[in-house]
Amino acid sequence: MSTMSVHGMWSSRLAFILAATGSAVGLGNIWRFPYTAGEYGGGAFVLIYLICVAGIGIPIMMAEIMLGRRGRQSPVNTMRSLAGQEGAHGAWQLLGWMGIVSGLLILSFYSVIAGWTMAYVTRAFGGQFGGIDAAGAESMFGALVSDPERLLAWHTIFMVMTVMVVARGVASGLEKAVRFLMPALFVLLIGMVLYAAQAGDFQAALAYLFKPDFAKLGEHAGEAILSAMGQAFFSLSLGMGAIMIYGSYLNSSASIGRNAVIIASLDTTVALLAGLAIFPIVFANGLSPDSGPGLIFQTLPIAFGQMAGGQLVGVVFFVLLVFAAWTSAISLLEPVVTWLVENRGFSRVRATVIAGSAVWLLGIACLLSLNVWAGFTIFGKGILDLFDYVTANVLLPLGGVLIAVFAGWIMRRASSRDELAMGETSIAYGAWRLLIRYVAPICVVIVLLNAIGLI
Ligand code: TRP
Repeated sequence: MSTMSVHGMWSSRLAFILAATGSAVGLGNIWRFPYTAGEYGGGAFVLIYLICVAGIGIPIMMAEIMLGRRGRQSPVNTMRSLAGQEGAHGAWQLLGWMGIVSGLLILSFYSVIAGWTMAYVTRAFGGQFGGIDAAGAESMFGALVSDPERLLAWHTIFMVMTVMVVARGVASGLEKAVRFLMPALFVLLIGMVLYAAQAGDFQAALAYLFKPDFAKLGEHAGEAILSAMGQAFFSLSLGMGAIMIYGSYLNSSASIGRNAVIIASLDTTVALLAGLAIFPIVFANGLSPDSGPGLIFQTLPIAFGQMAGGQLVGVVFFVLLVFAAWTSAISLLEPVVTWLVENRGFSRVRATVIAGSAVWLLGIACLLSLNVWAGFTIFGKGILDLFDYVTANVLLPLGGVLIAVFAGWIMRRASSRDELAMGETSIAYGAWRLLIRYVAPICVVIVLLNAIGLI
């Protein structure tokens, strides 16, 4: 039986792959992955990250697409109706609610970082990277984050851009944006890696990223594993209903398993390419890999400032990064917007403006935490860092566990087999079921319990 979502449908299977990849590929790959890997010393983190993507990320992505497509509504109502169909408790809709909260929190700081990216477009355009050294790049970045007015202006512009696309709806808004931008980003990133390979210290970068040195983790091993897992959820857009809502617009005949593997592979490739573009420059310029969230903003300008045609390449790179962030931001807003449309009867435009405004306000708290409110910390973190840490390392993994438990234990075998359409006795289905019932939930729970010191 084929069903449709009232919010619209993707025009083709390719459109779904592009949109879901557009959601997955974003600041998480190019900004967050390199600096987080750098904070935990490289190789060992990267290896744990890859294991999390394959063993936890892909099965949960399949589950999320599957639930979305079977429910065909906002995550809250999808969970409510699927729980009904499977004879489970209505409280499963809390999973949808949790996703809405995570989405609002993530987008609020995401938009601020996207604002940095836009600010860097103008700096590249103005030729300000020409001949810049490590100290210069550091002070340029420092000047930006300590200027609340500038940050507010860019954050506002980015939120307006996001609201504009989401308000237009699935096929006319979301699809159009990703069609051309994703491939362009990919090509440019490969160009950057090639440049870094000849201008930077490529050997050192390769060793840093791909030679796991577990000794480096030392007493921070638990923390590193938690962060690698959190990064996998964040980068694949899992655990909050973004992929679920995108799955709800997917044609009933598309293969979920194959799509999930493609999306996760593209996402991982982009993250690794970003690492290979950035770390050679880090090492060649004596920068330290653990310089935190400013890492790409303090390294890439040096490269653009030295290379031939760097002014143009710099502009193109940051523009594409803005687009990558944009296509991700859209998916963070979509779940709450569909819920407002379904349950409040709002028009799509009104729902988007309301949700976008809420995020905009939260984002102001995030950007102030970088300067005016720098002294205000909770658990030793400013608001922006706290939102980032709590969503990626707690809320998304928790959402992921609930998705896994629902898909593996609550949903009848017949339902998931029917929806995944992998064949009666297929090995792939058996593997998925093993991963989703045991491996994914148990691993995530162990990592979470370990992080709070219970085991
Ligand atoms: N995956 C995106 C990135 O890497 C961010 C993102 C978009 C996201 N939608 C999400 C993260 C949903 C978690 C959940 O930039």
